[in-house]
Order: sequence, then structure tokens, then C-alpha cells
Amino acid sequence: MCGIFAYLNYQIVASRQEILDKLVNGLKRLEYRGYDSAGIAFQECFNEDCDCFIKIIKQTGKVAALEQLVSENKDSVDFSKELDIHVGIAHTRWATHGEPSPTNAHPHRSDPHNEFAIVHNGIITNYKDIKSFLSQKGHKFETETDTEVVAKLLKHLFDAHKDQKIKFRELVELTVAQLEGAFAIAVISKHYPGDIVATRRGSPLLIGVKSKNKLSTDHIPVMFSKDHRGVLGASTSRRTDEETEYHSAGPEKEIEYFFASDASAIIEHTDQVIYLEENDVATVHEGSLNIHQATRSLNESTSREIITLKMAIEEIMKGSFNSFMQKEIFEQPESVVNTMRGRVNFDTKTVVLGGIKEHMCEIRRCRRLLFIACGTSFHSAIATRQLLEELTELPVMVELASDFLDRTTPVFRDDVCFFISQSGETADTLNALHYCKQRGALIVGITNVVGSSISRESNCGVHINAGPEIGVASTKAYTSQFIALVMFGLMMSEDRISLQPRRLEIIQGLKELPEKIKKVLTMDDQILQLAKELHQEKSLLVMGRGYNYATCLEGALKIKELTYMHSEGILAGELKHGPLALVDEAMPVLMVCTRDNVFSKCENALQQVKARHGIPIIICNEGDGELLTADCNQNLSKQKNQANCAASDTIVVNCHDGKGTKPQHKHNRLSLSFEVPQIIDCLQGILTIIPMQLLSMHIAELKELDGRPIIICNEDDADTQKLAYKFVEVPRTVDSLQGIVAVIPMQLLSYHIAVLRGYDVDCPRNLAKSVTVE
Ligand code: F6R
Repeated sequence: MCGIFAYLNYQIVASRQEILDKLVNGLKRLEYRGYDSAGIAFQECFNEDCDCFIKIIKQTGKVAALEQLVSENKDSVDFSKELDIHVGIAHTRWATHGEPSPTNAHPHRSDPHNEFAIVHNGIITNYKDIKSFLSQKGHKFETETDTEVVAKLLKHLFDAHKDQKIKFRELVELTVAQLEGAFAIAVISKHYPGDIVATRRGSPLLIGVKSKNKLSTDHIPVMFSKDHRGVLGASTSRRTDEETEYHSAGPEKEIEYFFASDASAIIEHTDQVIYLEENDVATVHEGSLNIHQATRSLNESTSREIITLKMAIEEIMKGSFNSFMQKEIFEQPESVVNTMRGRVNFDTKTVVLGGIKEHMCEIRRCRRLLFIACGTSFHSAIATRQLLEELTELPVMVELASDFLDRTTPVFRDDVCFFISQSGETADTLNALHYCKQRGALIVGITNVVGSSISRESNCGVHINAGPEIGVASTKAYTSQFIALVMFGLMMSEDRISLQPRRLEIIQGLKELPEKIKKVLTMDDQILQLAKELHQEKSLLVMGRGYNYATCLEGALKIKELTYMHSEGILAGELKHGPLALVDEAMPVLMVCTRDNVFSKCENALQQVKARHGIPIIICNEGDGELLTADCNQNLSKQKNQANCAASDTIVVNCHDGKGTKPQHKHNRLSLSFEVPQIIDCLQGILTIIPMQLLSMHIAELKELDGRPIIICNEDDADTQKLAYKFVEVPRTVDSLQGIVAVIPMQLLSYHIAVLRGYDVDCPRNLAKSVTVE
């Protein structure tokens, strides 16, 4: 969700080329956060004899395209010139406002003379009001982005305060005081040569500090801004920068600062970092870093610790793998061990989660447990819900963060709310956290990124310790989240005598899990063959029930996000209530059919798919494959003259017409809006469903659909207008852990299909790793 990076060095002689390389390299590390466009801005010259000006270079597409443009720009920049202060900002974009284009790419500028340049991650929700105000004042806008208003507002306020010689930091504080929404921004200006100001509200930002000498402090005191009463107002008892102009980190000779959306862009330079908190404003002036705070209450901490990152550089490199996603799938035997390390004692059969143990009494006494998350993280909660209900004997609610907020769901002081997030920065999840916190519930974070907003804002929590996940499609984080939640259930049930046999069974299952995951990973070639058969399909249904319902949701999400194929995760129990209509002789159906209490029910669903001549592909336990597929292979051999569908990359399953050619659908590019009357909010759904009912009816008749937006909005809302032919056997484990083993073939399958289709698996189109906007 956009990555920002900035670099400043003080008294280090370096060529321009070295600085640009640093900026571009920083962006490469953050590219998974968005890859619609990339750009950099840097101060070109700022010694006393020559005028400072800011050069901006930006380009659509990935960072490689920017890199190319930078090298083509060599003529216009003196790359060899050596200076001893450098400052530059950089951005990789996931488009929200305005399509990906060079103009809409960041950095954005205040005016044609580039007096101010800014990079931003987040969304400014009141940008239209600010834009209209500034337009009236004569400012000319050149982009469709929300960010541009910040650049223009900086200039507007600078001009208005010119006589008072406003400090750079104060100017940024004044500007952000007018903003609503979420942001992390970094600003440079020709009026403040060699300085940078960065601030955050709702989006992450951290600063790496690298000094030749040991830093004189391990904490940066926070000073309070006094100038902007109301929004940035400080009480008189607060320390202000007037009282102490404190050189907190510096000035030191040869000091470098790295500002970034996450640690992966910093770790190769330094492991010394400061995580900025909400409304912190960080300024580097003459090599010194100062942090000011706009809205902090007196009794809270007034310093920011310099933390030593525990990340190894290898963790953010691909090594011998073709992609981060592939590496992360194959890391799962180790990542699950890392999640359990120091927590599950297989000798004493005990589980202790250090991060929540102090709160266990409170958690055991709660009214209910809520698990709130988005996407894959949500699926991890679905995957463990049944077990948590069994082990905690408490009501368990699993909620999608956005929907939970839309419904303003009632939350009580005696609720315990878990927020599951790989990145720890997902805006919807974070907003839901704030919502529950305000209502007095206990907040438990389950995150992968140490120092992330969710981990810092929780009362207690669990780090899943899966290691950095760079591939946009989440894989190892899912299995580690799953295990973290299982461990929580085991901890909750430690005193329940009646549950001891069950607990022991699960702990044994956890012990055997890494080896079983390794075994599943050996099926990679088999899954590649299957992918070769499926990669040209239009649709793939993924079906299962019980503990594996979440596996299907997660499998389908992987398929669609990576392969752009239509895919749906279907609860097998719901098959006959609608989805069965999708099944015909051309429809591949991936079915999870493992030996648990719903096995026979899954067999029934398989029969139903077979009866409609669907193409079942089964994920089942070892030894069950023959049993479940025998019938189907006979059938298929008759139907399709493909008696032996053994692994071979020359086999083509002619699902569509039996001749090896696929029917060519004619696609009409649609971009329509349907207007429905406005009604009281709780009834609006009745009106909006009708166009959808009509739409699905017509599509069934016409069979023509393509991926253009079809909007359902209110009137006058101009603005919004057993029986398979293939199987994959996985090792058997305890029922509640089976999903971990079963999801891996799906991860591999989606990976291979995406590669075969020629897609970039680490950067699926339109997606970003850390979704820091609502
Ligand atoms: C899918 C995927 C997303 C994320 C979702 C939540 O592969 O990665 O669905 O799971 O955006 O992200 P986190 O877990 O960072 O809150």
C-alpha cells in the first residue's frame, strides 16, 4: 500500500550516483507494497554559492522502470559531483486516487519550481475540500491524487508565514493539522536545504540511524509542539522545543538517516531504528534528529527508544528461489517451528505464550472472544474457530474488520478482541482495534511484524515469528497465525481435566507438523503437472467443510489473487443451496476430503459433483486417493478419451468441447452504473440486491462478463457511479491441524499456475502487501 523511503546524510562525501542508488534500492525493498509507479526527488545543490533546487524523476510501472529512467537522466544531473550533505525522498505507489501514470506518480510537488516535494502513504480523506480551497487561492493542480493537496498546502502556508520565518517542522505541523485520513509523509524543500521532515498518522514510518561513532543516546526525547493550539496544542507544563533545543541523535559527523515504511528497506544499512508513533513529527536539521509530538497526554512516554532490529539481511533476499512467494512456501517447515519455539514444551506438554500470560485470568473470565482480521488473516481465524470453541468453551466470533466496523458491532468491556494481521498495519484491522479499545475491551494483537502499529497498540499479544513475508500473497504467515491461535486454545484449556486427552493429541500433532509439511512440499512436481492442466481454465471451485472450510477460502483467494482466474471457496454443505448450479463437465472442482468427522459428508458432495459431470480434483489423506477417484477416472476415460491422466506435461484435459479447443467468449467491455433509490440504511440491501439478481440472470443468458466496474449506487450519486480424475494426498494429522497440511498443495498450485500463465507471483496486479488504506 505504497512504500515511502527517504535518505539523508550529513558530512559524508558521496557522489550523486551513490545517493540515487540508495533511493532506488530502498524502493526495491518496498516494492511489494505497491508497484503501479515509482519516483524519487532529491536536492540538487544546496551550498551557499548556488541555489538549491529539487529534481524529480518518476515513472509508471515497477522500480526497474524508474531505474532505467534515472540512468537515462544522467545528462541532466551531475552524477559525479561529490557533496557532503544529501537528501532525497522516494516512493513506490499502489494507486488509490488517480490511475497509474507518470503524473500521478509520487513525489508530488507544490509548484512548477518544485519548492516542496512530498511522498505519502495513506489517504487524505478531506482532499476535495482542501483542493477546492487552494484552487480558489489560485493554485493549479496537475494530478488526480489526494497527495498533491499536501504539497500545495505546504507552499500556501509557507507563503502565508514567510515574514515570520517559519521553521520547516512547524510548517509541516501546520499543514498536517488540516489533514484528515491516514498518512505517513516525508517532505523536502528548496527553502530548507539539507533538511527533511517526516510525520505519520495511521500509516507506518520508522527511521534508521547509522553513525560512524556510537550514538550518544538510546532514546530520543520527544518535544511537544506549542505553536498550533487546537490541533497541535500543548499545555504549558509540557516541554517545548523553546526550552530545550536538544540534539537527540546527532549532530554527529558522518551520520545517515533512513526513513521507510518498513524495516526491510533499512536493515541492509543499519539495525538501529526508531518507530515513530501517531502524530510524531521527525525533523533532521544540520544532521540532528528531533522528534516532536502533536497530541500526546502528559503521562505517556516522552521518548522514543532506539531499537536494535533482529532481522537478518538474508531474510529479505530470495536466495536460490525464483520468487519470494516460492521461498516463503518452502520456509514453512521452519517458520512453524519458529512460531512454536519457546512456547510449546513437548516434554511437559505445556504451552506458554509469554506475551499474554499476564492477562490469562482476564481472558478466561471474558464474555466472548472476537477475532478480527482481513483476507488471509481472517481465514486463519475461521480455520481455528471450531477448535477455539471446543477448547475455550466460550462464544467465539470471527469478523472481517471492514464489515465489523460497517455494522458498528456492539463491543463490551468484558470482551476480548484479537486482531490478526501479518503486517500489523492493515487500516481496517487497525481501525477496528481503535473501535474496540474505545469500548474498553482487552486488545490482543497477533502480528508478524515486530514494532508494527497493531503490536504497539495492543494490550498484549503474540508475535507469530514467521520471519519477513515479502511475497504479496500471504503463505507462511497463514500457517503461523493458525498455530498461534491453536497455542492460545491450548493455553486456555490447560486446567480442563476433561480436555486433557484432546490437548495431548493436539500437542503431539504440533510436534509432527514440520515433518508433515516437508512431506507435502515433496509433491511440488505433481502439483506442477496439475497446474499445467488447469492453467488455461477460466474458473476453479474449491470446496470442503468443517476444519477445511477455511482451507478452501484461503485456497480460492490464492488462486484468484495470483492467477486472476475466477475461484470461489465453497462450504460443501452449501453446495446444493446454489453453487451446484456452477458445476458442469467444464468445471474443475478442487475438493478437500480428509479423514475427520465430516469425511462422509464430503464424499456426498463429491458424489453430487460427479453426478453433474464436474471435474473433481481431490486433496485427501494418504491411502484415500484411489478410493475417492476410481469411479471418476473410468468415467473420464469414457467421456474424454483421457484414460490415464498420469502426471505428464503433454496431457491436455479438454474440458470445454472435447476437441482441445476452448470456446472463445466474446467479451464486451462494460462500465456501467445502476442507480437505486436511497432508503434507510438497514433496508438498503433489499434494493441493492435486485440489480444483482437481474445481472446474474442476464449473465446466465448471455455468458458475457468482463472485469470492468459495475457500480450499484444511490440515485444522483454521480461521484461513485470420490470421484476425481486427480488427487493430491497429504499426510494425516490431528483433525484440527489438518488444514495446515492441506493448504500447502493449494499454495503450490496457485504458484505454479501463476508462473505458467507468465505472471509475476510476487507482485500480483492491483494488489499490495500492506493495505494501509480503508
Ligand atoms: C492474501 C493477503 C491479504 C492479507 C490482508 C490482510 O494473500 O495477503 O488478503 O491477508 O490484506 O493483511 P494483514 O494480515 O497484513 O493484516
